Amino acid sequence: MNAIQTLQQYIDESRRIVFFGGAGVSTESGIKDFRGVDGLYHLKYKYNPETILSRSFFLSRPDEFFEFYQDKIVQPTLNAAPNIAHKTLAKLEAMGKLTAVVTQNIDGLHQMAGSKNVLELHGSIHRNYCMKCGQKYDLEPVKNADGIPKCQCGGTIRPEVVLYEEPLDETVITKTVQAISEADLLIVGGTSLTVYPAAGFLDFYNGNRLVVINLDNTSYDSKAALTINGKIGEVLGQITL
Ligand code: APR
Repeated sequence: MNAIQTLQQYIDESRRIVFFGGAGVSTESGIKDFRGVDGLYHLKYKYNPETILSRSFFLSRPDEFFEFYQDKIVQPTLNAAPNIAHKTLAKLEAMGKLTAVVTQNIDGLHQMAGSKNVLELHGSIHRNYCMKCGQKYDLEPVKNADGIPKCQCGGTIRPEVVLYEEPLDETVITKTVQAISEADLLIVGGTSLTVYPAAGFLDFYNGNRLVVINLDNTSYDSKAALTINGKIGEVLGQITL
């Protein structure tokens, strides 16, 4: 059997699939990833992007943070639509075969495709709040802001996105560990698996059917029952549901 046929068999035989994904799931929707061949982190900036996307930079240089965040993170997602990878995963959940999508992405494309149980390890650009009064906002005031987004109370509106130096949400962690530990099939796609604690959650998988679908090799390939070096959308698009 070839790799796609093996993946098809695994999916047919599974009832508690978990998908664990990253920025590579959204590149076929036109959103750059970070470390891939033409990823965001390979472009030249005044500061290292992982410095800009950190809590200390956000607090000390909010104007420069929001300039980068707006230009490189928010604007590219505005016209992006879910691709076949997002849609296939939503279908698998609707069929009762997939229990959770665990994503490092903050673009909301899984929910737009119809996925219900999406565990967003790094938060979402669509959830924002005032740091002074706590007022919650959607993306509107952030995407339309010229500079630092401000609340009616005068406070700064910040995205509910996990910046470097910030902890992940405890509830999301608990749900992620539970879903992965109960999975019979864990499909990992479109992630370099280089950022922790996110990548470490894979170690809670107890099954023997880890599948990695990624353009580049990853450090988990050696533990996988099946690895496919290909485009996640093209691969999942070949699965018969
Ligand atoms: N199909 C499969 N794999 C792809 C595709 C695709 N269409 N496009 C890109 N890839 C692969 C790249 O080869 C790369 O290995 O997806 C991976 C994306 O890796 P990263 O850019 O490192 O993204 P990710 O793993 O999600 O980064 C994790 O880093 O900066 C932080 O918070 C940010 O959530 C992000 C975290």
